[in-house]
Amino acid sequence: MESMGLGFTKIFKGKKVFITGHTGFKGSWLIQWLHLLGAEIKGYALAPENSFDLYHIIEGDKLCQSVIADIRDDALLKKELLSFEPDFIFHMAAQPLVRYSYLHPLETFSVNTLGTANLLDALKDLKKACTVVCITTDKVYHNEENGHYYTEDDKLGDKDPYSASKAAAEIIISSYQHSFFNAELFPVHQKSISVARAGNVIGGGDWSKDRIIPDIISSLQKEKPVVVRNPTAIRPWQHVLEPLCGYLTLAAAQAREPLKFSGAYNFGPAAVEEFTVEQVVKKAIAVWGSGSSMVSNIMLPGIQPHEAGLLHLSIEKAKSELGWMPLFSPGEAIEQTICWYKSWASDPGEGKNSIINSIHHYMNLLHEVS
Ligand SMILES: NC(=O)c1ccc[n+]([C@@H]2O[C@H](COP(=O)([O-])OP(=O)(O)OC[C@H]3O[C@@H](n4cnc5c(N)ncnc54)[C@H](O)[C@@H]3O)[C@@H](O)[C@H]2O)c1
Repeated sequence: MESMGLGFTKIFKGKKVFITGHTGFKGSWLIQWLHLLGAEIKGYALAPENSFDLYHIIEGDKLCQSVIADIRDDALLKKELLSFEPDFIFHMAAQPLVRYSYLHPLETFSVNTLGTANLLDALKDLKKACTVVCITTDKVYHNEENGHYYTEDDKLGDKDPYSASKAAAEIIISSYQHSFFNAELFPVHQKSISVARAGNVIGGGDWSKDRIIPDIISSLQKEKPVVVRNPTAIRPWQHVLEPLCGYLTLAAAQAREPLKFSGAYNFGPAAVEEFTVEQVVKKAIAVWGSGSSMVSNIMLPGIQPHEAGLLHLSIEKAKSELGWMPLFSPGEAIEQTICWYKSWASDPGEGKNSIINSIHHYMNLLHEVS
């Protein structure tokens, strides 16, 4: 078994890491972390939408070579990828929102499937060894909402366009793995491709519409009641550093044993520690220090968007094969997250330091459990 977490701390130093979606919420945390680990980073994504986006807060342009472009531009993506000659790739660029996907299904399918195909197609022409982690989601599972803990071999394909687009991306990944990057020809192509499925991620600096923490913060800042859509829904809430640690641990394991680890891995919270949406809201209000909440029945006009109410994720494979495990309880994850927004609201200049301190704190926890 790989040693927990610390297996990746030295492996990225001086290595070239290509990240799609580097301007987003998770991408910004990842480039900050990889920069601290000494990696040379090139990012490929659309421009951040707001002046207060996390990418600007962490001064992302100083941490990486940033290409602002559409992942559906296959020729440009190939040019940028091949000229960089990466050792590692983390593919995160996506349209990641369920409710937006109901309003813009074609855009969601196009970005999430074609974007993935374009990246893997470009990889065919990369003439060096490369380790690739494709980030999909826990929502790829065909969710029966019956309390089952989904394992990596369970059936894929759920109802909403976002979930379906990510399951479709996984079929594309599997096709490229079998057709162009198969185990028998590994000595020739030298590409190891894995899939990482994480649950609902929370953390400082996420401003995405229709996500629980940004919605809570927006209401608390305006001193309005927090509107709760699905109070009893259970999702695998986890702090952003947990899945990112999973992605880094997985990539490091692949770099050491490329064929053994080129599969799919779930990264979620421990089974006994799941929170309902209502519990998340209550905890957030307690940490913020003031505020109230109310339940809403408002739906999008014309359609009734289905959002899974219960989603359980088994993390046994990541624990047993990678030695990865979550370090924060959901309560701690919410507390860390709300504290970041509180400190940012009182002094925006502290946003970057607070991210760096969180990463160092997490690395210290990894040392303790190793
Ligand atoms: N945040 C979560 O709770 C969560 C949970 C599971 C999986 N994921 C997955 O993790 C990844 C990152 O999510 P996030 O929360 O950081 O999302 P985000 O919206 O903050 O970031 C998305 C990134 O993708 C880029 N992107 C979007 N469309 C693009 C296009 N057409 N061309 C190039 N780049 C494009 C954006 O510019 C941005 O950099 C996504 O693949 C998402 O599906 C997120």
